[in-house]
Amino acid sequence: MIVNIKPSPPMIFGAGASWRTGMVARGLGIRKALCIYDQGMKDTGIAGRIVENLKAAGIQVVCYEGVQPDPPDYIIHEAATFANEENIDGIIGVGGGSVMDATKAVNILTTNPFPITKYFDLGVVQKPGKVLILIPTTAGTGSEVTEFAIVTDTLNNKKVATLGPPTIANQAIIDPELLLGMPASLTAACGMDAFAHAAEALTSSGMNPLSDALAQKAISLIVDNLPAAVKDNNDITALTNMSFAATIAGTAFNSTVTHIGHAMAHTIGAFYHIPHGVGCALALPAVMEFVADTVPEKVRQIGAAMGLSLDKGMAHAELGLAVADAIREFLRKIGIPTLEELSVQREMMALLVPAVMSDMSSYFSPKWGSAEQVYYLMDNMYKY
Ligand SMILES: [Fe+2]
Repeated sequence: MIVNIKPSPPMIFGAGASWRTGMVARGLGIRKALCIYDQGMKDTGIAGRIVENLKAAGIQVVCYEGVQPDPPDYIIHEAATFANEENIDGIIGVGGGSVMDATKAVNILTTNPFPITKYFDLGVVQKPGKVLILIPTTAGTGSEVTEFAIVTDTLNNKKVATLGPPTIANQAIIDPELLLGMPASLTAACGMDAFAHAAEALTSSGMNPLSDALAQKAISLIVDNLPAAVKDNNDITALTNMSFAATIAGTAFNSTVTHIGHAMAHTIGAFYHIPHGVGCALALPAVMEFVADTVPEKVRQIGAAMGLSLDKGMAHAELGLAVADAIREFLRKIGIPTLEELSVQREMMALLVPAVMSDMSSYFSPKWGSAEQVYYLMDNMYKY
């Protein structure tokens, strides 16, 4: 078997790592930086602290503070226009997945022609952007180490990705202290995004041995630490383990790509604006049942990483259901809301099937589903 293993950017990891941002940026040759974040990061004071740290290293800083969740294409254009007017030589994204994805997309437009929609396809040639540093403030997305930037195409109301080596950061700085005090619902949703990255990486058609090892480790760290991180947002040990899990799950799926669970989450997120990690979490049990007959050993590994004892002689359907039920129980433990609680109408699921089937992530499923099977998967998100 020939496998495709992609590198991660250099990372510095650990409590307090973000205090080195200025030194790292200076070492990468940045003299004038654009710092990108959102209003929430401004309010916490984290963005201001990073900006001061950059200035203390002798770097001139300009800021774009207007990133929105599920970043719309027009925000990317606004920030990139500002970046190009300011003649910056480095870009630093500070925030969760939306901020980091927006930052990566903006960076592409500092050296490539507008609009960002030109790059929503495989094989579109991009030049590398400016020097790019990403600093995650959640433990989930893994965007700091991946070559994907998910942006909302507002014309078609669809989440799409710009991707490829030029999208990836030059440096990731992962500081679990930036997670202190995070709301429990955000910790839970982000943690389940990371869980889904790991479980889908293990079962993707692009699976490889390095990603397998990282994904299994990520799942066991998440099962052991996410409940504690949700319960106590000052538990730095749990937050550190969750940060590490999210980063290695990101490294795993950067090579393998995620698959149908993410296609479902992208679709339901684009239509109902429910948090990405919640969509991933609710899709995952059904996906495990769906792929258990095609990649039973991988589903077994996911169960084992969760601490389940799974009989060797189990039928595939029984195996899929056991792992799916264990995930559902975990979702209840960490307080993931149901689709009913999020006011997503069950009768709308049938209308979303074509969008799920055309989402790029679907192509990496180990098994292709008919429209009826995909409808069943969508409807199964309510079984919780
Ligand atoms: Fe994700």
